Amino acid sequence: MAEDFMPLDGWDHVEFWVGNAKQAAYFYEHAMGFTRTAYAGPETGVRDRASYVLEQGDIRFVVTSALREEHEITKHLAKHGDGVRDIALTVPDATQAYREAVSRGARSVAEPYTVEDEFGTLERSAIATYGDTIHTFVNRSAYNGPFVPGYVSVSSNGHRDAGVGLLALDHMVGNVELGRMNPWVEFYETVFGMTNILHFGDDQIQTEYSALMSKVMSSGNGKIKFPINEPAEGKRKSQIEEYVEFYGGAGVQHIALASSDIVGTVSAMKERGFLFLDTPDSYYDEAPVRVGEIAEDYAVLQQHNILVDRDDDGYLLQIFTKTAQDRPTVFFEVIERHGATTFGEGNFKALFEAIEREQALRGNL
Ligand code: FE2
Repeated sequence: MAEDFMPLDGWDHVEFWVGNAKQAAYFYEHAMGFTRTAYAGPETGVRDRASYVLEQGDIRFVVTSALREEHEITKHLAKHGDGVRDIALTVPDATQAYREAVSRGARSVAEPYTVEDEFGTLERSAIATYGDTIHTFVNRSAYNGPFVPGYVSVSSNGHRDAGVGLLALDHMVGNVELGRMNPWVEFYETVFGMTNILHFGDDQIQTEYSALMSKVMSSGNGKIKFPINEPAEGKRKSQIEEYVEFYGGAGVQHIALASSDIVGTVSAMKERGFLFLDTPDSYYDEAPVRVGEIAEDYAVLQQHNILVDRDDDGYLLQIFTKTAQDRPTVFFEVIERHGATTFGEGNFKALFEAIEREQALRGNL
């Protein structure tokens, strides 16, 4: 058993580095129901970038763009496109978290430092993880401001969005290069004291044509969950390989957001123009057999293309969006858990196979 030497209080925020933060903020507000709560940029004394903070439930996104060519964010953008730079975690002590992480082999990105303004003091530090992705440690226990010092409160077009029912971050998935899953699993074991909690199934999720390997790392308190995928050999190009090729290396593949009313959330997002993956009707011929009785009506799930899976502890409902930028890289998941603690592994196979059956019916397989 891993020791709990890295206390993690929860997700702090997810920062995206994007080409146009002003427009990205509008997308997350209007297509996904986030409320713009804070801003930093030239008007607040930040000279090199503009950042917008977006909140819904307990979820906090930050979208940031650089203002000039010669900038780390601009280089990141050219290489990766819009993507997740920082999976920031709230910790009780950002100095201690940093020292533990670095002493256990993590690469330093920012040594511990404190920033303050009239709202108090905030302590931060950062380490590197896969690709060009980082983990910032944030201790905000002595801070009451809108986000962090340097940011000012703003309102979204004068009103607060009612949201679409997204409540919390459930898990964040990383795609890594072929052969790199186990080294990153070891990184999260060694540096964070996380454990591999994949409950069932073999490591490889395989249909006749597509394959990937996946392991799930979890913090001791279960608040932070990081599934990590790598491509596996199949007849066709693995979707993970496609990601790595277009992202220019390892990075965040999808961000799963929890809802307690997935049908309502998905309906609202569709109404706002968010696009989701379709599910073939054949999927729903087998879903009731595979998953059994659930509180929801399968016909309603089918109408909304919502997937269902069961594990030893219960069931879950989930749906995946189309990618959120032109590169086939980052996308979102909406998930509603009814006891289930896994991640819908049953759906990978069922969904891919259902898609392949549809292909076969068209004579294209
Ligand atoms: Fe997921």
